[in-house]
Amino acid sequence: MPKHNTLILETGARGHVIAELVRRSPDTGLLYHYPSKVLAEEEGITVPTGLRSLTELGGWDGAKNALADFAVAKNVKRVLVTADDPIAAGVGDVFRERGIQTFSPTAEAATIESSKKKMKHIARERGVPTADFEDFDVTDADETMAAVIEHAAERNKWPVVVKADGLAAGKGVKICASHEELHLKLEELRAEKHLEPGKSIVVEEYLEGPEISLHAWVGGDSHLMFPFAMQDHKTIRDNNEGPMTGGMGVVLPMPHLTAQDMDNLGKIFINPFVQALKDEGTPFYGVMYPSIKLTANGPKLLEVNCRPGDPEAPAAFPMLESDFMTIAMACAEGKLNELPTPRWRKGAAVCIALAAPGYPGKAQTGGIITGIEQVRSHKGVRLYDYALKREKTAKGSVFKTNGGRVLGVHAAAANIRLAVQVADKAAAEIRFDGKEPQRRRDIGAQAGSELFKERVEILRSYLAAA
Ligand code: GLY
Repeated sequence: MPKHNTLILETGARGHVIAELVRRSPDTGLLYHYPSKVLAEEEGITVPTGLRSLTELGGWDGAKNALADFAVAKNVKRVLVTADDPIAAGVGDVFRERGIQTFSPTAEAATIESSKKKMKHIARERGVPTADFEDFDVTDADETMAAVIEHAAERNKWPVVVKADGLAAGKGVKICASHEELHLKLEELRAEKHLEPGKSIVVEEYLEGPEISLHAWVGGDSHLMFPFAMQDHKTIRDNNEGPMTGGMGVVLPMPHLTAQDMDNLGKIFINPFVQALKDEGTPFYGVMYPSIKLTANGPKLLEVNCRPGDPEAPAAFPMLESDFMTIAMACAEGKLNELPTPRWRKGAAVCIALAAPGYPGKAQTGGIITGIEQVRSHKGVRLYDYALKREKTAKGSVFKTNGGRVLGVHAAAANIRLAVQVADKAAAEIRFDGKEPQRRRDIGAQAGSELFKERVEILRSYLAAA
């Protein structure tokens, strides 16, 4: 079997777990990962040499041609771009133009994640259930603020949600409980430069209920569901309190949802976007990830992401039994229909994020991390690298924190409760500068709740009637 040199472009823990799977694939030759991951380097992944850092290259937009030149020089035949920033910067497009097999949505298709307005309009046109909304194109910040305030006053249903168009790393969404708060949050959006002429904002109904993440492989005109729903925990503190983060922990599979439910969810929440993008001439190739709220009035779409979630990926991908590259390349080539159904391990899994002090604000970096080797020896536990660095010392080297979320602790077991117990025990052995990292202690606690069960019943009635 010919071996193909492969390049992964990704910054999160998601890149580390994907590297682990790609390395295992029988037709992978040399595997490069950029920007390189400290833990992955130890696992047989080649560190790209001769490339400057992402900052030096001017971010993904500035780096894309240098990366494509690197790939051609190293005889790279396959590329995976799995994070929102490089996808939005059109990194995948540059590789595709060079004739390299590329697992990545195009920048245009990926606007379903960055443009809330585009996503909401597709949902409305294609009958995907989602929160009621109104969008506002900004010509003048004061006028737009006045129009939004008038709209919210007429509607008079609180809270109201205001979303900035464009990628905002989870910070462009404002939940406003009252008129006063709406004023304040609009001022924040203005200060964050989201109310500049040419930009758009979406104002929508607030949705209440448990949230789930769906994932599907998409190959242009068809999709294949991951056979489970997942649940992320997005705020920094337990009980969904505190500011939003990139995601502090994911569990799977969410209980009560059957294989039939998952298929139906794909028909309602994924297929309309796959077909809309194909009809617009910008078909989607990659993983599509909608978040759904299970409300008292049935399931409603919150957002559509153009890449695997993170920590969804480090929770889910270790459970994949089939060859990851075979599926990824079938997506890239639009040949999902030719694949046997992917196989997944039975049981449950979790990934708990360990974050540095200060996150999700300005995180303190450079903390000495202890416990990594100890935790890596635990059966059923894997550590994934969000942001680590290794520094030489007189006695060898130490791991240090190098970002907000630093490590993902994955564990798999027969059920969610056991998987969380194993991951929690391992997480408790990790220290940053001798102190416990920030982590949530309630990951998975709501997965089996009565409320969740009730909302799945409502979802099922909705699916039966749809
Ligand atoms: N689950 C959070 C994210 O990947 O966006």
